[in-house]
Amino acid sequence: MRATPAPDLMLEPAYDPAGSGRDPIGTSTLANKGLNVRHGTILTLEDINVSFDGFKALTNLTLYIGVGELRCIIGPNGAGKTTMMDVITGKTRPDNGVAYFGETLDLTKMSEVQIAQSGIGRMSVFENLELAQKTNKSVWASLRAKLTGEQQDRIDEVLQTIKLDSSRSRPAGLLSHGQKQFLEIGMLLVQDPQLLLLDEPVAGMTDAETEFTAELFKSLARKHSLMVVEHDMGFVGSIADHVTVLHQGSVLAEGSLEQVQNDERVIEVYLGR
Ligand SMILES: Nc1ncnc2c1ncn2[C@@H]1O[C@H](COP(=O)(O)OP(=O)(O)OP(=O)(O)O)[C@@H](O)[C@H]1O
Ligand SMILES: [Mg+2]
Repeated sequence: MRATPAPDLMLEPAYDPAGSGRDPIGTSTLANKGLNVRHGTILTLEDINVSFDGFKALTNLTLYIGVGELRCIIGPNGAGKTTMMDVITGKTRPDNGVAYFGETLDLTKMSEVQIAQSGIGRMSVFENLELAQKTNKSVWASLRAKLTGEQQDRIDEVLQTIKLDSSRSRPAGLLSHGQKQFLEIGMLLVQDPQLLLLDEPVAGMTDAETEFTAELFKSLARKHSLMVVEHDMGFVGSIADHVTVLHQGSVLAEGSLEQVQNDERVIEVYLGR
């Protein structure tokens, strides 16, 4: 496991945005896409509150993601993890609080479409159900669907990245569950998002697919920022630099996986069950 910065530094960016890591899908121009990330923070959430009919799903949630960071979010069922992603993507409006993408884009004032176009891509297990029904559309056509001409050059690279190159002509509906997940990730990648939100990406995957997903996410970090919600602690352990534990709509703990695993409060509400 990597050395971890002191806790008070953890809210700062984890990586140099111009880092020299390999760029598997040709996204090296990302830093020039116009998002202002001057202070190295790609996502700012401060004092976010969300309530549903009086039930508080998020309570003064404050969390920062650095440019190029791979952040894992864990926490018990109902902790507010998916709701947090809904706030980031504009699906759910917070009652109050601050949500910024980069320095200048106020997510609370943007539509879901504007947020997606600005460079935040989201994948959730549920979208798979939709994909599974598109049995006639090929893998290649699925990737191509949302693209303009010049972006289509990216398809071959993305197909290799998600290991579906040899399945490009297969109907997407015939892919294995894990391959559908990879195709979903590929559909995000062709759009070149700077921030990827992944909600339980390895749910239902085989061990081999889970291992590949870990490698894939590690290869995407630095050039992209990733926020990964996952209950599979083995998977979290294999990718995590930083882990944030949510509980009852707030951050309970933050640090390396080892640090949060040894936190008595985390053991009590989540890991120790
Ligand atoms: N649209 C909604 N209306 C009412 N309550 C909601 C709504 N969405 C979420 N909630 C409630 O908010 C709380 C947080 O839910 P959320 O789905 O964000 O949790 P989670 O951390 O993603 O849990 P899980 O690990 O089970 O996916 C839960 O108690 C849930 O029932
Ligand atoms: Mg959830």
